[in-house]
Amino acid sequence: MPGKEAPQLLLVEDNALEADFLKQELAEQGYAVTWVEDGESALAALQENHPALVLLDIRLPRMDGIEVVRRIKAGRQSRFIPVIMVTALTEVEERVRGLDAGADDYITKPFQSFELLARIRSMLRLRRTYEELASTEAKLKKTREENRWLRQEIQGKYAFEQIVGRSPAIRDTFYLMEKAIESPVTVLILGETGTGKELVARSIHYNGARKGKPFVVQNCGALPESLLESELFGHKKGAFTGAVADKKGLFEVAHGGTIFLDEVGDTPPSLQVRLLRVLQEGEIRRLGEVHPQRVDVRVIAATNRDLQEEIKAGKFREDLYYRIQTFPIPLPPLRQRTGDVPLLVDHFLKKYNPRLEKQCLCRGDALSLLEQYPFPGNVRELENEIVRAMTLAGPTEEIEPRHLSEAVRKAGAGPTPAKNGCLQDQTGQLEKAMIVQALQENRGNRTRAAQKLGLSRRGLLNKIKRYDLE
Ligand SMILES: Nc1ncnc2c1ncn2[C@@H]1O[C@H](COP(=O)(O)OP(=O)(O)OP(=O)(O)O)[C@@H](O)[C@H]1O
Ligand SMILES: [Mg+2]
Repeated sequence: MPGKEAPQLLLVEDNALEADFLKQELAEQGYAVTWVEDGESALAALQENHPALVLLDIRLPRMDGIEVVRRIKAGRQSRFIPVIMVTALTEVEERVRGLDAGADDYITKPFQSFELLARIRSMLRLRRTYEELASTEAKLKKTREENRWLRQEIQGKYAFEQIVGRSPAIRDTFYLMEKAIESPVTVLILGETGTGKELVARSIHYNGARKGKPFVVQNCGALPESLLESELFGHKKGAFTGAVADKKGLFEVAHGGTIFLDEVGDTPPSLQVRLLRVLQEGEIRRLGEVHPQRVDVRVIAATNRDLQEEIKAGKFREDLYYRIQTFPIPLPPLRQRTGDVPLLVDHFLKKYNPRLEKQCLCRGDALSLLEQYPFPGNVRELENEIVRAMTLAGPTEEIEPRHLSEAVRKAGAGPTPAKNGCLQDQTGQLEKAMIVQALQENRGNRTRAAQKLGLSRRGLLNKIKRYDLE
């Protein structure tokens, strides 16, 4: 039976008597019927009424039924509308041609109305299937397009040009990255916090042969041991209380791609053994599972710890260390690449100006303060500093020293020449300030402070006495 909303049927029939009869039968069954007498009107009605089904007499004046079928099935939208031909018993040839032209079904006159109704219902079911298919197809196409777009965007984001720097120290890193991109070797990225370890890992993945495959990240220090284990290796349903369903581990998810093991130095010892196994055998085993499973995953690890020290302290396995440090990429701290600060400042201004709807600039004193500050939090700290200053910047959108954080401003508060006083006084003040700074930096160690200042130890001690710095 038709549903609440009466499906629209288009009846194409040149015989008014037959048409009347059919209209009545169909209306009684709850269908809404539009009746037309010839092919041209049928095509016009198709555009206007969007019928759910066409009931088509094959013998029509002017354009014959077969041509009408052909045109319906050639339309991008109308091809989904089922067509049932109505033919006489003797019209075998027309029937065959009609089916070849794309008609979906036929019925021969004389027929019982219950037979026609059954065929209509069956065709309407078919139509729903067509529509579902078409909509799935459209969704798939859209997803494919979105994926392609996303891939392009991601690849753009991790393009080499996005890693800013021209200093000799970062150039060495670029060189090593290029080598790592060309080969599937396990990489260990070493660097202080905020130096760009994750950025480098992503760039290696998205510029290499595995770029179309997943890149997954796990911070090995972020989870308790048992959770980390099931994150990395997955588990079988019932492997432990709370394991209500099978779960894929990240090594499985990353199959064909790359896994980034961040803070690998923080991996709990029992899991270090399991990591070693994946690296050696290329096999993983879900928790609670008996059989191992092969995975093809590239490992990029990172740490800001000194792993040699961790080994000495018994916290990191030596065998795992030798497995992951086959290709180390050291990332220099920002204070060793001060030449890159203006480039990075410019990069972050370009990145955040559109997002903050500003056109900020950073030059002169503000920029030179940033160049002097040692940035213990490295590039991330610089990025945060810039965003903060941009937010504070006034209507001129020029970043000024007062928009910078206190720590950065202080970095520039070195000795400045006094307005009055003779040359000797002023150089004396400068000398004193430099000695204080050297002593502070070397935690009072006079031998090292003297080295830093280019003085003998004896010479430094004399000056300490002279300036009363004991
Ligand atoms: N050379 C660079 N050019 C441009 N942006 C950079 C560069 N290095 C780092 N960044 C940016 O600095 C931020 C910190 O980088 P990332 O997260 O990769 O550092 P990390 O070494 O993984 O830090 P952590 O050890 O704290 O996890 C990110 O926003 C990153 O995009
Ligand atoms: Mg990181």
